[in-house]
Amino acid sequence: MTDTAQPSPASRLTTTRASYDTVAADYERLLRGELANMPFDRAMLGVFAERVLAGGGGPVGDLGCGPGRLTGHLASLGLDVFGIDLSPEMVAVARRVCPGVRFEVGSMTALGLEDESLAGALAWYSTVHTPPEELPVAFEEFYRVLAPGGQLLMAFKVGDGSTRLTHAYGHDLDLDVYRFPPGLVSELLVEAGFVEVARLVREAEGPYEKTPQGYLLARRPGPSA
Ligand SMILES: C[S@@+](CC[C@H](N)C(=O)[O-])C[C@H]1O[C@@H](n2cnc3c(N)ncnc32)[C@H](O)[C@@H]1O
Repeated sequence: MTDTAQPSPASRLTTTRASYDTVAADYERLLRGELANMPFDRAMLGVFAERVLAGGGGPVGDLGCGPGRLTGHLASLGLDVFGIDLSPEMVAVARRVCPGVRFEVGSMTALGLEDESLAGALAWYSTVHTPPEELPVAFEEFYRVLAPGGQLLMAFKVGDGSTRLTHAYGHDLDLDVYRFPPGLVSELLVEAGFVEVARLVREAEGPYEKTPQGYLLARRPGPSA
């Protein structure tokens, strides 16, 4: 773990937004098509999509959608999905890459969405820059916007502590990347009101991963609408 003075949540969002604005186009180019090489990712996304549709469907938010690579995939699985990201440049790239899908700028810590308005929420590596002590803010927001019976799927890096990322996707950056123990993610989700449905941890794969990767599927209790 790298010890660093903790910036405020607001300044962390500013740094994260600026960093992803810088890398947006190259991030999209470098990760384009990667999902085809990730069978565990597709499996978890497929289970998530099936469960949303089995519950009657409804709007699904890809929260921290980046360039929309998962948003487009979920749309291809039949979900009524839209994307939200902190980075205006990521949103611009996503709109270009997925022209049939709606993308908006926003933060998963304060979503401009009605209470209980989503059938599903995806947080795919979008909490990797959030320190564990700030996860409850996002989890409470996920719970607020999901309808009873709504599904939440998260992907994250498994481990403890954080690493300072100084270069990525061809650019110099200054961004903390956090790893989480799956048990902690589950515990915080339960504290926010969720029920854990399933979790998967797999070994690192491909050119970019340095740690095991975790997937956690949770649901807001209650019957689907
Ligand atoms: C590692 S990228 C993952 C992007 C996408 N989900 C994917 O897997 O390709 C992290 C993304 O989360 C976004 N992000 C980080 N914090 C966020 C927040 N508080 N609200 C919305 N988006 C956020 C970043 O702008 C970035 O696009």
